[in-house]
Amino acid sequence: MFCYSEDDLYCEQVALADLAHRTGTPAYVYSSQTILANYRAYDEAFGDLPHSVCYAVKANSSLAVLGLLAKAGAGFDIVSGGELFRVLQAGGDPSKVVFSGVGKTADEVEYALASGIHSFNCESESELALIDAMAARRGVKAGFSIRVNPDVDASTHPYISTGLSQHKFGIAMSEALAVYDRARGLKNLSAEGVSCHIGSQILDPAPILEAVEKLLALVAALGAEGLPIRHLDLGGGLGIRYRDGEKAPAIGEFIESLRARLRESGLRVMVEPGRSIVGPAGVLLTRVLYRKKNGPKEFVVVDAAMNDLIRPSLYHAHHEIIPVRKNALPPVTADVVGPICETGDFLARGRQMANVMPGDFLAVCAAGAYGFVLSSNYNSRPRAAEVLVEGSAYRVIRRRETFEDLVRGETL
Ligand code: LLP
Repeated sequence: MFCYSEDDLYCEQVALADLAHRTGTPAYVYSSQTILANYRAYDEAFGDLPHSVCYAVKANSSLAVLGLLAKAGAGFDIVSGGELFRVLQAGGDPSKVVFSGVGKTADEVEYALASGIHSFNCESESELALIDAMAARRGVKAGFSIRVNPDVDASTHPYISTGLSQHKFGIAMSEALAVYDRARGLKNLSAEGVSCHIGSQILDPAPILEAVEKLLALVAALGAEGLPIRHLDLGGGLGIRYRDGEKAPAIGEFIESLRARLRESGLRVMVEPGRSIVGPAGVLLTRVLYRKKNGPKEFVVVDAAMNDLIRPSLYHAHHEIIPVRKNALPPVTADVVGPICETGDFLARGRQMANVMPGDFLAVCAAGAYGFVLSSNYNSRPRAAEVLVEGSAYRVIRRRETFEDLVRGETL
């Protein structure tokens, strides 16, 4: 929840200018109210349909964020042992964890089995064989879903589209039935569900509904073969509004449409939303260092860079950039760039924006998902602080890194 009161930008009841002065910049700031409201929008829209909302940890894996969601009752979608460790540290319930990903290692499978996770979303037969062998050694039965590749086009950025047969993800729909059938021979596995995830930042949910039809056909075929399936995991992917004026699907309406289609199925429905829960809940605060002009071109040089937020450089993603305190100057068209020695280091290009001056603060909007988690120490820049706002209070949930942090673990 970010809005202006007079000329000052607030996160809930906290003035971001004060926060920026106290915690320094760059800093990620998250609204706990927004995170919880988005989670509840999913949970409540499902109503009495059996469901699990497994937050995709990769979008924002800060302990405090995971803790908030764990307390609210969320499950978690993880893709690594490290993410499982974080979920457990944050008090998450392992029996609500699904483990996705195309390259799970034996150590990760072992850790997940030992922790008692709900199920594995499997992407190959060799992975099924590995999980079966490791479950046998522990004397347990491991629940699994096969992530099928439904061959539908999510119509999103090519780097975050995953549901076409050319992508590395999942098992082809045409082979899925045979794979489930062969998996019957693996005595330490139990087929729990069918899963898919067709891409991310999906603004038109029609392809997700198209995938649902294909998954339901597979579930029916499995049932006919004597292989009852308990749940359908539809992955994440719902898009958010990055650009002013852009239309993004409302969580409640999207889930309503799923609910209507799946009500009679008898299946538990799982979703793995990441971005749509935390994306709108975060901003990256940055301070203007310099203004400069190269010929006719205007630059706003700020203290956040591509190491802090790589989405503009990597996906040509658009993030609105707004002043933390409005001024009365006419707007300017400028590139917003960071201190890193790369032409690709920009947060916006040719952007009409507030005419800010050195010392002013800017907020890079909708940065709560795939922001901090994708940050790095490139150019030996300590990573930003993260701050969680709760009403009129806020706390640093990850302190800014120091130079000592930069060399931790290294030897001369
Ligand atoms: N489930 C699976 C299996 C996934 O691969 C993903 C995201 C999600 C759930 C969560 O999707 P979401 O609801 O957040 O769209 N770094 C990129 C996004 C990569 C998404 C990868 N997979 C970005 O900044 O746009």
